[in-house]
Order: sequence, then C-alpha cells, then structure tokens
Amino acid sequence: MIKNNTSIAMPTIGFGTYLISDEDAPKTINSAIKIGYRHIDTAEVYRNEVGIGLGLKDSFTQFSVKRDDIFITSKVFPGNPSWGREVKNYKMCIEACDNSLERLNLDYLDCYLIHAPFCKDHRLEQWKALCDLKKEGKTKTIGVSNYSQSHIQEIISEGLEIPEFNQIELHPWCQKPELVSFLRKKNIKIVAYSSLVPLEGWREKPNQDSAKSLDMKEIGGDKSSPFKRMSAKYGVSEAQILLKWGLQMGYVILPKSSDEGRIRENFDLSFEIDNTDMKEITTMDKGDGVAWPNGDPSNAE
Ligand SMILES: NC(=O)c1ccc[n+]([C@@H]2O[C@H](COP(=O)([O-])OP(=O)(O)OC[C@H]3O[C@@H](n4cnc5c(N)ncnc54)[C@H](OP(=O)(O)O)[C@@H]3O)[C@@H](O)[C@H]2O)c1
Repeated sequence: MIKNNTSIAMPTIGFGTYLISDEDAPKTINSAIKIGYRHIDTAEVYRNEVGIGLGLKDSFTQFSVKRDDIFITSKVFPGNPSWGREVKNYKMCIEACDNSLERLNLDYLDCYLIHAPFCKDHRLEQWKALCDLKKEGKTKTIGVSNYSQSHIQEIISEGLEIPEFNQIELHPWCQKPELVSFLRKKNIKIVAYSSLVPLEGWREKPNQDSAKSLDMKEIGGDKSSPFKRMSAKYGVSEAQILLKWGLQMGYVILPKSSDEGRIRENFDLSFEIDNTDMKEITTMDKGDGVAWPNGDPSNAE
C-alpha cells in the first residue's frame, strides 16, 4: 500500500481498464476482484464506467468485498484546443465528476485525476475544481496525469494544494528520471501506466493498434531479449519482470488484460529482481512515452 498525503491507501497493483469495452467490463472487473485486485483505474474517455459499475455491484454481492475495500480512480478529460476538443472550465470539471459517479453508480471516488495537461489557459481553473470536489467529499484524493515538472510547478507557484498523485507512462524504455526525482522530492506518489510496452504483442489486437505512437516501430528494434533472459533466470514471464520492475522502483502499477490467466499472472509478483538486473534495466531508457498516438502528452506546452 502507498500512503498519500492524506493517508488514504492506494493499493500498489491496480487494474488498468483502457481498451476494455463497456460490454466486457462487468465480467473482467469481476475476474480482477475475484483474483485479488482492490484498485481499479478508469477514465471518462475509456467509455467503460457503466460496465465497471455493474462489475463492482456484482462483485459486492458475490465476494466478501465492500465499497470501502476497493480503491477507484477516474479521470476528467480536460479538453484539447489543438485537437478541436472543447476545453472544460471549472463547472464542466465538477459536472464531469458527477457524471462519472453516476455512471459508476458510486457515491464517491477514491482518486480523481486531470487526464492530461492539454489546456494551458485553463489548467489552474481545472485544478481548483478538483480541490473543491475533494472538499465536498466526492473524491478522497486528487491528482494529475501526464503532468511534467513545469505543469506541477504552475500549481505550486499559485499556492494551491499539491497533487497527491501523478499518473505517467513509465517502463524500462521510458524512465523519465528527472520527473521521477522531482515527484519524489515533492512527495507526489507515482503511478506508472503502460508498464508492458516492451512486450511483443503489446496492444496488437484488432482495434488497438491505433492507440499508440508510430515511434513504437522505431524503438521496438531490440524487442524484449533482455527480459527473455531475466524471465528464464527468475522463472516468471516477461510481463511479470516489467511489472515487478515498476513495483521495485516504488511505483503503483496498473496492468490491463482482458484474459483471466494474464490478469492472475500480473497480480502474482512475489519474487525479487536483483540489483544487477535492476541496474541493467536502468540503461534501457529511450526517452518519451509511446502510449498516446500523438506523442507523449507530458510534452504539452
Ligand atoms: N493516464 C493515462 O494517460 C494512461 C495512458 C495509458 C494507460 N493508462 C492506464 O494504465 C493502464 C495500463 O496501461 P495499458 O493499458 O496502456 O497497457 P499495459 O497494461 O501496459 O499492457 C496491456 C497490453 O499488454 C497485454 N498483456 C497484459 N498482460 C499480459 C501478460 N501477462 N502477458 C502478455 N501480454 C499481456 C494486453 O493484452 P490482453 O488484454 O490481450 O491480455 C494488452 O495488449 C490502462 O489500462 C489505463 O488504466 C493511463
């Protein structure tokens, strides 16, 4: 468990739900909770909050879990002027949270994030809305996602509440050492997404290929051979190596899978990567993230 500034615990292995459809969400959430996940990550743009709500409701009756046992994160999509997507003002951010709660059929969220720093002229107004949502009890904690050092500094300089979390793309090919060091200094907890990018087959099913940067083709050159060696050494899968690396770095991780066997495998991380291999992984950083088709959103102006 990772304690944030307000002492609400975020379980370190969360279940990612991007590209899980609303239709598939109930049974997938049910499997994840049955296996032991107690942290679910969604967003208004994933369009699966209704299905997640149904899966949660079903799990509360089937298993001995209560609402308070599960940590649920959602995110407001802030808009993006350069994509022609309407910018959300203060009121629209409040409404977005209310709408997520209604779709999820919940009274409160455990964490609410601004999905990306896309709205230069409205970022502070959007952050103030999240601060007020927390005051009203609609979310226990608040944070940001894809924010760089300068985006967070903007909030700090204004004297506003510091985000409790920053959810960012982090895996051996995208390690963001300066941002990680800044976040640690500011006591902002780090949530890593897309941990499995270096795997062959990552997001390669039909309809998933577009949801990643074309740079993947260039950076994927050496594929995952070092992870194949480590996988044989520790007797675990390459996916488990990538996820365990995230945990050993002190990050919360959010593996997504639609396959029950993989959902189970991704939760079974009781081994240790030794220092030599952790050091080798440090040398694999290739720079920016690849999980967004238009480039790493933390580079937004
Ligand atoms: N804040 C943001 O901007 C942002 C951006 C991206 C992601 N996220 C969050 O982070 C979560 C995780 O990131 P992600 O969905 O990008 O990708 P991920 O969890 O790194 O990887 C998912 C991909 O890996 C495959 N996979 C999963 N487990 C596997 C295993 N054990 N062996 C082999 N392949 C495996 C999945 O296929 P199958 O489903 O077929 O198993 C899928 O193609 C998201 O779902 C979302 O909640 C947030």
